[in-house]
Amino acid sequence: MFSARTILLGMGIAAWATASGANELRETATMLFGVVPTEVTAVRGAAVTPQRVELGRMLFFDPRLSSSHIISCNTCHNVGTGGADNIRTSIGHGWQKGPRNSPTVLNSVFNVAQFWDGRAPDLREQAKRPVQAGVEMASTPERVVDTLKSMPDYVRAFQEAFPGEGDPVTFDNMVIAIEAFETTLITPNARFDQFLTGNDDALDEEEIRGLQVFIESGCGACHSGSNFGGQDYFPFGVVERPGASMLPLGDKGRFAVTQTADDEYVFRAAPLRNVELTAPYFHSGQAWDLEQAVAIMSTSQLGTEMAEDDITAVAAFLRTLTGEQPAVEIPILPPSTIDTPKPDY
Ligand code: HEM
Ligand code: HEM
Repeated sequence: MFSARTILLGMGIAAWATASGANELRETATMLFGVVPTEVTAVRGAAVTPQRVELGRMLFFDPRLSSSHIISCNTCHNVGTGGADNIRTSIGHGWQKGPRNSPTVLNSVFNVAQFWDGRAPDLREQAKRPVQAGVEMASTPERVVDTLKSMPDYVRAFQEAFPGEGDPVTFDNMVIAIEAFETTLITPNARFDQFLTGNDDALDEEEIRGLQVFIESGCGACHSGSNFGGQDYFPFGVVERPGASMLPLGDKGRFAVTQTADDEYVFRAAPLRNVELTAPYFHSGQAWDLEQAVAIMSTSQLGTEMAEDDITAVAAFLRTLTGEQPAVEIPILPPSTIDTPKPDY
């Protein structure tokens, strides 16, 4: 594991108060984190075309991907509210309460794998799950394809997005288009990024101190990379297990994926970009205050009781990770036809 502490050996925190200190801090932060890119042009070698992005935008907002016709991806990943639903755990088909909090879709393309336990390797595979999940959209690939094929405007949009394919309206192409749209849900140019790219005034004194504490105390060892997390898995409660309300005993995290005892209560280090917008926190969605989440991390992951003013500074720093939100226009969707499967609820 990449250790922030190693990098910091020999670097006095006080030095960061000076101009050369700001440069040193910038260098360290660049090494550990990095800026959010302004554009993603390809995913695993496949070009992201405007036609796929456009189709993906329609699909992301279309509630007819759910059997009830009332739940779209945007229901639980509202792009107007940080790409999440801001409730403890998501509500899906038939008002059923799901077991986990909805993570943001913003910048999710930069995560090494999807879901709190990383069980989907990429956004394409990920998108197949909610459509079929009984507690989410409760549909089937067949029903979704029938739905899309019943609307001539969708058939045309698939033909344009997947030219040369005889039968382009497929479940697999649907998730490729959704993935293409999700690559546009990125949030560059946060104040932290402005600091990294040379603007000393982008962060105030407290935020700079929060960044120092974040690195120095070891948060950055797990929350690393440009997404401040989303790259690796760690036990929630490395040092001290949080209480059962934060860490419900029934959800053993990555253990369900690997069936390995070492993976009990292991979760992906949550990405912290835009964290100011995505309360409540943790997979249980039980912490409403960012300060509370920082304090819990400090005791559970680092085994330290962080001082109040350090908690405040770290939380202030984390709020500088809010980037420019994607300006997404709500699409006008193709009208249903007589052949469109009727809502089922
Ligand atoms: C996870 C996208 C529909 C609730 C995710 C993630 C993505 C995503 C990218 C992983 C993010 C990450 O791991 O950082 C989508 C798309 C949808 C959709 C494209 C439509 C096809 C929904 C709906 C709900 C929902 C309708 C609520 C009923 C959740 C929850 C998780 C999740 C609770 C975390 C689940 C877990 O870790 O086990 N979604 N989502 N999603 N989404 Fe969705
Ligand atoms: C989750 C901050 C240290 C691993 C979180 C969250 C925050 C946070 C705010 C919740 C994000 C969300 O729900 O969207 C911090 C801070 C740290 C720190 C400020 C230093 C005081 C660490 C360390 C590790 C770690 C050292 C690894 C050993 C995780 C994991 C999660 C998480 C696995 C997800 C927990 C879950 O499944 O609910 N962190 N973190 N964190 N962090 Fe940290």
